[in-house]
Amino acid sequence: MTDLSVDLGFIKLKNPVIAASGTFGYGLEFEPFIDLNLLGGFVVKGLYFSPREGNAPPRLAEASSGLINAIGLPGIGVERFSEEVLPRIRKYDTAIIVNVCGESEEEYGSVVEFLDKKEGISAYELNISCPNVKKDGLCPALSPEATFSAVSLVRKISSRPLITKLSPNVTDILEIALSAQEAGSDAISLVNTFLALAVDTETRRPKLANVYGGLSGPAIKPIALRMVHQVASRVNIPVIGMGGILEGNDALEFLIAGAKAVEVGTANFVDPEATKRIIDELNGYCQKMGIDRIETLIGSLRT
Ligand SMILES: Cc1cc2nc3c(=O)[nH]c(=O)nc-3n(C[C@H](O)[C@H](O)[C@H](O)COP(=O)(O)O)c2cc1C
Repeated sequence: MTDLSVDLGFIKLKNPVIAASGTFGYGLEFEPFIDLNLLGGFVVKGLYFSPREGNAPPRLAEASSGLINAIGLPGIGVERFSEEVLPRIRKYDTAIIVNVCGESEEEYGSVVEFLDKKEGISAYELNISCPNVKKDGLCPALSPEATFSAVSLVRKISSRPLITKLSPNVTDILEIALSAQEAGSDAISLVNTFLALAVDTETRRPKLANVYGGLSGPAIKPIALRMVHQVASRVNIPVIGMGGILEGNDALEFLIAGAKAVEVGTANFVDPEATKRIIDELNGYCQKMGIDRIETLIGSLRT
């Protein structure tokens, strides 16, 4: 039997497959499809302090090999999450990661301060990188200084493991990653979606009410992989890679490029059992290749 576990330092996952934020609800929505105990972990939908409605529809447009979304981070807020959701998901034997959002640095702080008093959260994923929230964007992940500032603020408030989620919409992903590391992040996850546009040629209007949205899915995989490799080759903290993973082989590419774990997003919409299938496919690959521990693959790219 292959050992699929991966050690992120601050947490050991039973396998490297984590469901990505915004594509897996609060976990509960996937209970009819998969046993959540099988997952390395899952990241819940982004949480602001208060409930939010998100953007006006239409909020989704299909693209070639991808999806453009401008959902705009609707959510139930920290109080309802703690009272109604957390007690139901913390019973699972898997890493529960909360995706933390904020309209200001202070809001990131308040979300974490509130949740720190609650049991059953394995780590925070600091979403400083959403491309499609209307308020002309507090998106700290677009600058090394703002990244440093947001991560430092949260770091002072909580000693829980902190994963900083980066945006691909930058010229130099490495300088942002190094800022997050310097500010005390325990890990880095990348990538969030790529800022994108889809046009309806009949009406000559944008397909999304928000005009721009974020592109995810297989279309972004090669660029995401390049960024993961660039970052993982230089930082000292673990990197969690994502972008267009549909199959076990896609996940393997990220691991070989240096990611210690992967997140699976858009694939959950195509196949609600995608995470489970990918875990099975990783197992199958390791057995076929005679690999006892999947960790030996991490960063094994021969350049
Ligand atoms: C509909 C939708 C909603 C998303 N919501 C969030 C979110 O709440 N927080 C976040 O950090 N990322 C969010 N993302 C980004 C994904 O977690 C992931 O970073 C991105 O989609 C790339 O991975 P993929 O190609 O496997 O989907 C969302 C993506 C989609 C498609």
